[in-house]
Amino acid sequence: ITERTKGLLPVHLYGQCVDLAPLKELAAKHGLSLLEDCAQAHGARQNGTVAGSTGDAAAFSFYPTKVLGAYGDGGATITSDEAVERKLRRLRYYGMEERYYTVETPAHNSRLDEVQAEILRRKLKRLDAYVDGRRAVARRYEEGLGDTELKLPKTTPGNEHVYYVYVVRHPARDEILERLKAYDIHLNISYPWPVHTMTGFAHLGYGTGSLPVTEKLAGEIFSLPMYPALSTDLQDKVVHAVREVLSAL
Ligand SMILES: Cc1ncc(COP(=O)(O)O)c(C=O)c1O
Repeated sequence: ITERTKGLLPVHLYGQCVDLAPLKELAAKHGLSLLEDCAQAHGARQNGTVAGSTGDAAAFSFYPTKVLGAYGDGGATITSDEAVERKLRRLRYYGMEERYYTVETPAHNSRLDEVQAEILRRKLKRLDAYVDGRRAVARRYEEGLGDTELKLPKTTPGNEHVYYVYVVRHPARDEILERLKAYDIHLNISYPWPVHTMTGFAHLGYGTGSLPVTEKLAGEIFSLPMYPALSTDLQDKVVHAVREVLSAL
């Protein structure tokens, strides 16, 4: 934290909330905003509080793959602060306070398309069912892979995980992914490059070697298939293939 720091931006990665209490305290101590990135955490809870309701504001993505996804791009921000709400409404609509009078720039056109809004409104009613489906998939992975040397995701005390992505770890990650291709299983890595190693963020002055733990983990993680409609048959095939590959290493 320096005199230039304006806010903290915890990212509730993979569907589980970052421990918010210490960040809230830190933000209050230094007069910073606390903004929650809830793009992967629709419906997640921490100590009973739903993701997005602890910070000064929160952002959600409704990209189609998300826990609550539209049929195209979309997103929303939420806040309980009226001044922040007014500003957000201006920023999403050319900086206008009233039609057609711009009071601040730069601003954007970030309206949510009405068709997407209606799709989301209907799907929102099913959010709990989507999350239950994801949790059932997670439970089956725990039953099927819990006794292997694969490191499975852990839910920290007080958290209710929504499993947007089911990320596991193994030092032989690349070999495992290669061998799974023989079973026609092609898995994703979320995410292969830590932000600080990307060319686009080189200007921040970090780079490879500056965050060794992050870099090590980025070389070991991969994601198992995770979506509410994943059938037990398909999931059993994945579990079986992963077990075979692990035992042949
Ligand atoms: C953690 C996180 N933050 C932000 C975003 C950006 O959301 P969008 O693509 O809707 O702009 C995403 C996903 O795309 C995300 O996973």
